[in-house]
Amino acid sequence: MDLRDFIDKWEKEGELRRVKAEVDWNLELSHIAKLVEEKEGPALLFEKVKDYSSPVITGVYATTGRLASVLGKSKDLTMVELTREWMKTMTESKELVQAREVDSGPVTENVVEGERANIFDFPVPRYYERDGHRYFGTAIFMVTKDPASGKINMGTFRMGVHDERHLGVQILKGKKTDRILNSYAKQGKKMPVCVVMGSDPLFMFASAGTIPGARSGFDVVSTLRGEPVSMLYAELTGLPIPGDAEIVVEGEIDPTVLKEEGPFGEYTGYYTDEVLKPIPKPVIEIKRIYHRTDPILVATTVGRPVGDQHMLYAFARNASLWTELEKMRIPGIKSVYTLPEAAGRFWVIVSIQQVYPGHAEQVAHAVIASNTGTYGLKGIIIVDEDIQADDLPRVWWALGVRYHPLKGTQIINRGRATPLDPALASEENKLITPRIILNATTPFEEKGKLVEVKLNEDKVKEIKERWKELGLEGI
Ligand SMILES: Cc1cc2nc3c(=O)[nH]c(=O)nc-3n(C[C@H](O)[C@H](O)[C@H](O)COP(=O)(O)O)c2cc1C
Repeated sequence: MDLRDFIDKWEKEGELRRVKAEVDWNLELSHIAKLVEEKEGPALLFEKVKDYSSPVITGVYATTGRLASVLGKSKDLTMVELTREWMKTMTESKELVQAREVDSGPVTENVVEGERANIFDFPVPRYYERDGHRYFGTAIFMVTKDPASGKINMGTFRMGVHDERHLGVQILKGKKTDRILNSYAKQGKKMPVCVVMGSDPLFMFASAGTIPGARSGFDVVSTLRGEPVSMLYAELTGLPIPGDAEIVVEGEIDPTVLKEEGPFGEYTGYYTDEVLKPIPKPVIEIKRIYHRTDPILVATTVGRPVGDQHMLYAFARNASLWTELEKMRIPGIKSVYTLPEAAGRFWVIVSIQQVYPGHAEQVAHAVIASNTGTYGLKGIIIVDEDIQADDLPRVWWALGVRYHPLKGTQIINRGRATPLDPALASEENKLITPRIILNATTPFEEKGKLVEVKLNEDKVKEIKERWKELGLEGI
C-alpha cells in the first residue's frame, strides 16, 4: 500500500475530498486544512495549488478512523484499542519481516541533481503568518546512518526552506539523530541524509516513535503490513529509501554550518523564543531530488491541537510507551492513552487492575522511567480497570470521586523537558520540567469498602435484545 492506494481507498469511503478550486500555498492551503482537521473532517487533496501543477495532501492522520485505516484495522476501534493491536503485533512477532530490496521504483521516475534541483519546484506551503519560511518538511521522515553501529535511523524533523537547495532542520538536542550528527562532527565528516515524503503512511509512525529491537523503520513497517515493503538505496548517500515514495531529497548536513531557522507555528499551539531571537540550526544541502511524476506533497498543519500531527504523534508515542511498559512486565496494565488533546505528549492516562498496595504509583513511575515517558511528559493519571484510558468522561468521573488531592498527588521536581513547552518560563532551564502524578484509583486497601451503583447485567442484556422493539434503533 502506498499513499496513492490510500487516496483511492479513502475517496471511495468518503474519507478524502478533492479540492478542485485554486488555493494559495501562502497561508490559504494550511488554514483550510486546519479548519477541516479541527472538525475531524476528511483528508484533503488540493489539486490546484497557485503557481503549481502538482497536488498537496493534508489531514492524512487527523482522525482515529484514518489512523485505523492506515494500520489496516476497523474504523470502529478507539485509540486505545488501536494501540493494543499495534503492540500485539510488535511484541508477539517472533521475527520482524524484512524489507525487499529493489533497484528502482516509482520514486526514481524523475531524478534531478546539482544546479537543476530546486525545492521550489514543489508547492511548499507557508503555514502561519509569523513563520520564518515556507516549510517543506512537516510530514517527512529523515533517514540517517549511525557511523558507529551502521544502524539506520529515522526521525521526523521540521524543515524550513532557506533557498532552492538548502533546508533548515530542527533536530532537538538529545534526539538519536542529534547524537548521530555529533558522531559525524567528531569525525570531521558531513552527515548524509535522505528526506522522504509519501510512500506507505505507516512510515510516519515508525519515524515518530521508538521501536525497541527493530533494525530500522523498514522492518517495522514490513512487520506491521505483514509483507516486505520495497526499499532501494539512494545512489549518492547509500541510504535506504522506500521505492514508492513521492519525493526524496538526498543531501548532507555539514555539522560545522548553522543558519537561523524558524520560527514555526509549533504543535503546542505557540511559537517558541525564536520569534524574538531566531536560533541557528543545521542545514541540509540538497544534492539530488527523486520524485514520482506529478508528486503529491504531504503536509501537516502542526499548530494548536487537535490536528493531524497531534493524532499521529499521540498514537506513535502511545504505541512505544505501552510496548515499553509491557516489556517491563509490570502486572495489571489494561490500557494506555497519550492525549492528542494535550498536544500528543504532555499527559498520559493508564488504566490498571491493582494487584497490591502501591501498584498505581509503581505504574506512574514506570511511565516516567520509560524511554518514551522520560521526555516532555508533565502529568500521569492512573485509573482503575473499569475505565478505559481513552474514555475521558469516565476519567473525569474518577478524578471527581476517586481521586484524593492530598493522598493521590505526587510532584516530581526534575524531569527531562521539551524546550518547546511554552509553560516553562523564559528564566527557567527549559530542559527541565516538574511532573505530577494523579492517582485517581480507589486505593487497593480501600477496595470493597465502597458500594458502587451498578446496572444489573442481566437486565442490560435483556434490554439490548429488545432494543429495536423499544424503538431505540440507531441510538
Ligand atoms: C509531524 C512531526 C514533526 C516533528 N518535528 C520535530 C522537530 O522539528 N524536531 C524534533 O526534534 N523532533 C520532531 N518530531 C519528533 C521526532 O520525530 C521524534 O522525537 C523522533 O523519535 C526522533 O527520532 P530520533 O530520536 O531517532 O532522532 C516531530 C514528530 C512529528 C510526528
